[in-house]
Amino acid sequence: RRFYRAESSHDLSSYMDRGQAATNENRWTLESAWEVANKVGGIYTVIRSKAYVSTEEMGDNYCLLGPYKEACARQEVEEADFPPHSPLHAAVAAMRSQGYKLHTGTWLVDGNPQVILFDIGSGAWQLDAYKQELWDCCSLGIPHLDVEANDAVILGFMQALFVTEFRKAAEKYSNTPPRVVAHFHEWQAGIGLIVLRCRHVDVATVFTTHATLLGRYLCAGNTDFYNNMDKFSVDEEAGKRQIYHRYCMERAASHMTHIFTTVSDITGYEAEHLLKRKPDLITPNGLNVKKFSALHEFQNLHALAKEKIHEFCRGHFYGHFNFDLDKTLYFFIAGRYEFGNKGADIFIEALARLNHYLKSSGSDCTVVAFLIFPAATNNFNVESLRGHAVTKALRDTISDVQQQIGRRMYDLCLQGQLPEASDLLQKEDMVRLKRCIYALQRDGLPPVTTHNVVDDWNDPVLNSVRRCQLFNTVSDRVKVIFHPEFLSSTNPLFGLEYEEFVRGCHLGVFPSYYEPWGYTPAECTVMGIPSVTTNLSGFGCFMQEHIADPQSYGIYVVDRRYISLEGSVQQLATNMYDFTKLTRRQRIIQRNRTERLSDLLDWRNLGIYYRQARAQALKLVYPDYVDQLGQELERGFNYPRPISEPPSPTASRGTTPAASVHGSDDEDEVDEEKELAELRISDH
Ligand code: UDP
Ligand code: G6P
Ligand code: GLC
Repeated sequence: RRFYRAESSHDLSSYMDRGQAATNENRWTLESAWEVANKVGGIYTVIRSKAYVSTEEMGDNYCLLGPYKEACARQEVEEADFPPHSPLHAAVAAMRSQGYKLHTGTWLVDGNPQVILFDIGSGAWQLDAYKQELWDCCSLGIPHLDVEANDAVILGFMQALFVTEFRKAAEKYSNTPPRVVAHFHEWQAGIGLIVLRCRHVDVATVFTTHATLLGRYLCAGNTDFYNNMDKFSVDEEAGKRQIYHRYCMERAASHMTHIFTTVSDITGYEAEHLLKRKPDLITPNGLNVKKFSALHEFQNLHALAKEKIHEFCRGHFYGHFNFDLDKTLYFFIAGRYEFGNKGADIFIEALARLNHYLKSSGSDCTVVAFLIFPAATNNFNVESLRGHAVTKALRDTISDVQQQIGRRMYDLCLQGQLPEASDLLQKEDMVRLKRCIYALQRDGLPPVTTHNVVDDWNDPVLNSVRRCQLFNTVSDRVKVIFHPEFLSSTNPLFGLEYEEFVRGCHLGVFPSYYEPWGYTPAECTVMGIPSVTTNLSGFGCFMQEHIADPQSYGIYVVDRRYISLEGSVQQLATNMYDFTKLTRRQRIIQRNRTERLSDLLDWRNLGIYYRQARAQALKLVYPDYVDQLGQELERGFNYPRPISEPPSPTASRGTTPAASVHGSDDEDEVDEEKELAELRISDH
């Protein structure tokens, strides 16, 4: 029983009728993004994880639009034609009759949404005409050489044409006038919106931006971004970075849309200054939270996945394996390789200090820190593969010797003899084992990177690791492993999907400087893995806003806004050091608490903001539109301090945790009550 769960959440379930209401009203949502069935980064996660609630609410009146990217689409999309009575079918047919190629079907993710993927090549011959129209209608000029922008133009025009055809068809198929919301994400999908508005197509539009182009560029370039947000000469800055045309696409879409949204307050503030439009609404990102039938299943999964990471470490550190895996903690950072924006710079710096703290305090704990950022490589390096080969050879030999010992024991017992040790483990076995042990010797140190990085000497992670001298020596208490590729289960070193890897770790560290939302810590949270985030990330601010004391729930928010860089590094190093001081029992309690935040991040609750954005857009275009949602969003929600958590600062804390007013017959809760007195995770 979870007695401190928020009483009033915005559960969408009462509006979920698998599209019945939408069908009756002839109301449609067409949602477009570059990352529909095309895995790049977080926007893919937004669209994919939201699909379940979107289809629960809109049923077959919901359809996703994206570019056809063969590698991903072939694995994730089941191609099929839409039913002949659907206006989607008619619009697709109209497009195809004009020579465009469209792939239609359903996306094989939860919710199984309908999807249309546009073959950009089939519209490319019209690129010049499209660009001319853009220039004529809004003076937007796109240089020839920017392939990504050209693709965005072609995709945008094809999608605008599709929405136009769809609008016509939807009118024919029903007596009720259609109410269509065309929702576009990020600048790459913005052209569709611009064209629809320039051509005055009768649909309501929503534009959601997940960052601003200029913000991302400015932050990556060592600018004091947050203190100068209102002072940048935006056109000039965009021009200097050769992204002026992209900036114009983004700015035009955000001004021409009926309703403009971004994913967090901090990005809203950024949009206000850099795009010159304040968002009408904040649409925070959720996740499709899976509930396990057993309450502590996620803890079991942690232990199982951790064992696989242990196995990796045995292979990687062979010959220098002088630490106890039972006292080893796994920290990690992962994401697109934006070194400074994602905070990898301060992570490495703080790891060096953590190494010093652990050494000088004589701690018996070892931290293995993984950095997972895709970079150009020439495949795995020999030294990494060799480690796994020699440990495998040892494992195979031991299992063989074990079997032989068993056979010998069996035979001796059958003969009525009690076996002696020397009868069982024979000299030849010892020789085989010795050979394996000798093979475990190595000349160099366990490598920092698992791959041959192409630009090794200029690689920012490797350079920082060199500067901080985190070389994985036997005396280091912090070991570093740079895995310059996203994880997948076919990976010969880990054999783990990213999600499983996260489950096996102890702490995700995401000290971002530029992070409109940041799915990586959110994903940790719903898996019950504590994480570090910052007050410059949308997620970190959201947690601070909705939880009385995020740290007590395993959400460490590093200050990167109001203190110096040195201060942030120190804070991060201290947080990590404090974490190493927790006992196993305390870590288990903390994971339980972290997992309890899942509801807060569930699309079943957060999907309401998307719904509201669409309703507002419809209301603007069709004033007679009645928004059933009414006042629902007026009620705010806030997560209280866990009832068992004493208030900070430390001095004011009671020594006995408050008893639950509801009483508790749940063994874990009772345990937690008793043991929380020990848990001091926010003392610093
Ligand atoms: N991710 C992944 N494999 C990895 C590391 C990250 O699939 O090895 C995914 C992660 O699950 C998350 C996304 O990449 O959903 C990153 O999203 P985030 O919002 O954190 O950052 P973005 O890349 O959008 O800036
Ligand atoms: C989970 C498992 C326990 C295990 C623990 C390890 O809670 O259910 O059986 O002991 O994880 O926790 P640790 O933080 O040491 O990885
Ligand atoms: C962007 C941002 C990231 C956010 C994602 C989804 O890629 O960089 O912070 O989580 O979009 O909104």
